[in-house]
Amino acid sequence: MLARAALARPTSPSVGPLAVPSALQLVGNTPLVEIVKVRDGVMPGVRLYAKLEGFNPGGSVKDRPALKMIEDGLATGRLVPGKTILDSTSGNTGIALAMVGAALGYPVELVMPGNVSAERKKIVAAFGAKVIYSDPLEGSDGAIRLCRRILAEAPERYFKPDQYNNPANSLAHYETTGPEIWRQTEGRVTHFVAAIGTGGTIMGTGRYLKERNPAIQVIAAEPEDAFHGLEGLKHMASSIVPGIFHEEELDRKIGVATDPAYDLVYRVGREEGLLVGQSSGAALLAALEVARTLREGTLVVLFPDLGDRYLSTTLWLGWSKPGGP
Ligand SMILES: Cc1ncc(COP(=O)(O)O)c(C=O)c1O
Repeated sequence: MLARAALARPTSPSVGPLAVPSALQLVGNTPLVEIVKVRDGVMPGVRLYAKLEGFNPGGSVKDRPALKMIEDGLATGRLVPGKTILDSTSGNTGIALAMVGAALGYPVELVMPGNVSAERKKIVAAFGAKVIYSDPLEGSDGAIRLCRRILAEAPERYFKPDQYNNPANSLAHYETTGPEIWRQTEGRVTHFVAAIGTGGTIMGTGRYLKERNPAIQVIAAEPEDAFHGLEGLKHMASSIVPGIFHEEELDRKIGVATDPAYDLVYRVGREEGLLVGQSSGAALLAALEVARTLREGTLVVLFPDLGDRYLSTTLWLGWSKPGGP
């Protein structure tokens, strides 16, 4: 009953026309902002816009798939009262699941590598979720493996959204992120650039946009090697490839290095007034590489979260170094 009320779309608001019935109705409809200064040789005929997913209530793009996967679990009867939501996550999905679980009254358990940022651990705890740490040296794949073992021991206890293989992950973006970008650019978008973790964002958004206009180029930004400092992102060649990721649907994949991605994060903070996370820097690096080859176009780059989530990580070291960027 509680779950149904929280998930309901507002019909006749009881408080006022601008109030929504729960935090869940704040997921999506994030702003699109033009990048006006960090353009590095991009021609004036090329417009560059960032979709600010840090404006979601859980603070990242992951609120969309978390909500969709849980809605799907409830609709299909795989998530029922008495079950616990369990998943492996490099951070943002965990926060999103914890937020949605809290709003709906379902307990949440999360397996994450021991080295995720202190902010993430604390935010998840603040939403009341239980965290199980996997070996930091094994990265997100280690969390996936440990989560599988926990589930195998008591499958009846858990609902596992399984963001890496759940079509509801990319569907969330097909149904929301894609249409929002189409509307916000009034159909003018020519290129969509996003960094890849599960691939849900690029797959779902890319599919929607290509359905509207097959000429739209869908471009993924990927860490250029296995050892990188781009939390949330995956180097596919050295990882367990997510079941929902279909590389053949992309027009292009661009490898990005950690240091130049961090430098862009610092510049976007100082020059655009936008404090974003490192994967936003990675996506912008790829977007600028594409933009510099064009005479005209409308590029949309997705910024998955905000920078204050990373103040205790290596990202901040370069930022705060004396006389630094
Ligand atoms: C900070 C950050 N950026 C980018 C991504 C990639 O998004 P997706 O999993 O939709 O590919 C994630 C995913 O976990 C993330 O946490």
